[in-house]
Amino acid sequence: MNRAARIGACGHGGQVVISPATVGLLEPKAFPLKELGAHRLKDLSAPVTLYQLGDAEFAPLKTLFRTNLPIPATPFLGREAELDDLAERASSPAVRLLTLVGPGGTGKTRFALQLAAELADAFPDGVRWVPLASLRDPSLVASAVAQVLEVEEGSGESLGNAISGALAAKRVLLLLDNCEHVLDAAAQIVSPLLRSCPEVLVLTTSREPLAVAGEHVYDVQPLLSRDAISLFDARARAAGAVLDSTASRSSIEKLCARLDNLPLAVELAAARAAQLPPAALLERLSSRVDLLKGPRDADERQRTL
Ligand SMILES: Nc1ncnc2c1ncn2[C@@H]1O[C@H](COP(=O)(O)OP(=O)(O)O)[C@@H](O)[C@H]1O
Ligand SMILES: [Mg+2]
Repeated sequence: MNRAARIGACGHGGQVVISPATVGLLEPKAFPLKELGAHRLKDLSAPVTLYQLGDAEFAPLKTLFRTNLPIPATPFLGREAELDDLAERASSPAVRLLTLVGPGGTGKTRFALQLAAELADAFPDGVRWVPLASLRDPSLVASAVAQVLEVEEGSGESLGNAISGALAAKRVLLLLDNCEHVLDAAAQIVSPLLRSCPEVLVLTTSREPLAVAGEHVYDVQPLLSRDAISLFDARARAAGAVLDSTASRSSIEKLCARLDNLPLAVELAAARAAQLPPAALLERLSSRVDLLKGPRDADERQRTL
């Protein structure tokens, strides 16, 4: 969905919501405008100030509020049909725990963040993202969750119980991201939550399922070839590569296929595209040179892919 459509979709029937860019195009004072404050749109970009034409009163805009979803540095590509499909599944009251599984670098985290943003309207008490990738000690999972939910340990009660107690009557979407290395600890938090918090939806990403009763598992596939090519293109251009000949088109397609259209691998290859044209990248890949070394700020998982 493009930006204008996102802005249009966050208003209510009869309400005209406009962006600062549109305000800039209007004749000064030609229309009565009401400032609606800064809002985050569901494309997860940085907040924008939105305006309304006229001064009628409407319910709050359907934008991201009460969420701590991060602002990704790059736009989300593809997966339209998968997003629709999963948003529908996740909206069923029968689904309380949805786990996105797949190998490292398939795009589980990105997909889960996007799905959580799409579902945000249905969770008036908030959407909370708990990143677990950097936790080394499983015993810290409960406190990571508690910290994000701003729950404090009561005297004589476990942190797990305090979390379940705090969410008991809340309509919250809890996203536990990168559970694979702390599966048991995550399951121990999630299980009681499902039992005592009927309105909470737990979304998790993991290389393996949590194996908790009631879990719905969704296997995240690599990108479609077309989207992997767009991803390579975008990242390669960002790295300063010039890609225009038809020869590089066909090499990019082969390169992505060779990388199984795995987003992380495609990104790492694209980061090299300013130094090496796609055909040379393809050749290097065949000779297994360390093409896929991650950027300096990548996490451990990426650096060792
Ligand atoms: N649909 C997508 N659009 C744009 N970038 C993506 C997409 N899916 C994955 N990526 C990028 O690929 C990399 C790996 O994705 P990530 O979600 O971290 O994988 P996983 O969680 O499965 O290990 C990240 O840098 C992410 O931003
Ligand atoms: Mg992840």
